[in-house]
Amino acid sequence: MAGNASDKQPQGRYYIETWGCQMNVHDSEKLAGSLHAEGYTKAESAEDADVILLNTCSIREKAAEKMFSDLGRIRAIKNRRPELLIGVCGCVAQQEGEAIFRRAPYVDFVMGPRSTGSLPETVRRLRGETVRKRTVDTEYRRDSIEFPFDRIRREGPHSAKAFVTIIEGCNHRCTYCIVPTTRGREVYRPMDQVLAEVRSLAERGTYEIEFLGQTVNAYRDPEGNTLAELLHAASEVEGIRRLRFTTSHPAQMTDAIMDAMAACRPIVCPYLHLPVQSGSTEVLKAMRRGYTRERYLEKIEALRARIPQITFGTDIIVGFPTETEEDFQQTLSLLREVEYDSCYSFAYSPRPGTASLELVDNVPQEEKAERLARLQALQKSIQERRQRRWIGREVEVLVEGPSKTNAERWTGRTPENRVVIFDGETAPGRLERLEIVESTPFSLRGRQVTPVS
Ligand code: 5AD
Ligand code: SF4
Repeated sequence: MAGNASDKQPQGRYYIETWGCQMNVHDSEKLAGSLHAEGYTKAESAEDADVILLNTCSIREKAAEKMFSDLGRIRAIKNRRPELLIGVCGCVAQQEGEAIFRRAPYVDFVMGPRSTGSLPETVRRLRGETVRKRTVDTEYRRDSIEFPFDRIRREGPHSAKAFVTIIEGCNHRCTYCIVPTTRGREVYRPMDQVLAEVRSLAERGTYEIEFLGQTVNAYRDPEGNTLAELLHAASEVEGIRRLRFTTSHPAQMTDAIMDAMAACRPIVCPYLHLPVQSGSTEVLKAMRRGYTRERYLEKIEALRARIPQITFGTDIIVGFPTETEEDFQQTLSLLREVEYDSCYSFAYSPRPGTASLELVDNVPQEEKAERLARLQALQKSIQERRQRRWIGREVEVLVEGPSKTNAERWTGRTPENRVVIFDGETAPGRLERLEIVESTPFSLRGRQVTPVS
């Protein structure tokens, strides 16, 4: 969906490269919107851009390093066209600040995720200067969350689905996590503003909304409205057919939110991403997650009691410092017990400034890799079994676009977040009824029944 056309003079073209989570993807939609409002248009590739923004992720070391290797490639473009403006935004920008100039002196500005409001001014100034004065802006402001929503340039394949930020930052202090440093403490958007955006999207034909936040279920606006009130209110907006929210913190999954999810069925989708990180209470304590294995499982049970068809996704870190084989076995047993439909798993990666650096990391790198492989093999077999249960059932999918592996086919998602691949006449953004005919651990194959819309 395009944002409002700009009434400014054409300024040139921008290109944004994005790494990381949905939050970053959505921040890029805001960065694009700010540049568009300034009179810029989108370039097809970095090669023909006047402004290049790298919206970076620093959650694990690999992601941060990838940014520096990509910068090397962009440097070659700048060698050919010295007037090119390069900005590093996102979490690496916040984390590294000035240090980015030392490793990549051709970068023109560095801007953290909570200070993106100054983007238009920074770009204007730098492009006007004959001798550019490089800047770092890593102040924690409310810029991003207060972004005027009619300027957001949503870049998804269709306008039927949209991300909407409701909370930014994180007040937890999980000992492995860099997010509280890069995104600061929680800030919340007033519910009336969130609803105004939801209504405006619905009027433009959006019928699936995903509320975003690092700890989305910690949402509490200045009037005291929580995610529970928001789910009730948003599910009543005419035209909205699917609501999701991510990512939830298990310790903040309140009865009120669970009740709201059940009461707002089927608009609130029966799928929840609820990262557990580890199945061992000892490790959870060392991670400072604020719940035990038992308490987590109680939440899963409480959700299943209210919403029998609910399915879950999770995140796991293996090889956290102090994790024993016995602890790891507890994680495997938790996977068997919950039976997640999706699981993002990672080997622990030490991050600058986090409390886990003070723990002795007694799990060798090979052991981490080996545990990760064992965990992924188990999860694959669980998913294989769970996916097979869909065969013969009829589902409704929101069509996302051509399949990544075969452009002749379509891909879509069910309310339970299952990916379904199918052939036939349709278009991105449509809802289709499909019968499931085949399954793999990661996707389903469907056959069109009758179109819903
Ligand atoms: N090492 C490995 N994985 C991490 N995650 C966050 N920080 C780290 C780290 N230091 C994982 C967690 C989180 C997901 C987004 O990334 O599982 O839920
Ligand atoms: Fe990181 Fe923990 Fe906050 Fe999630 S809840 S963003 S893992 S500190």
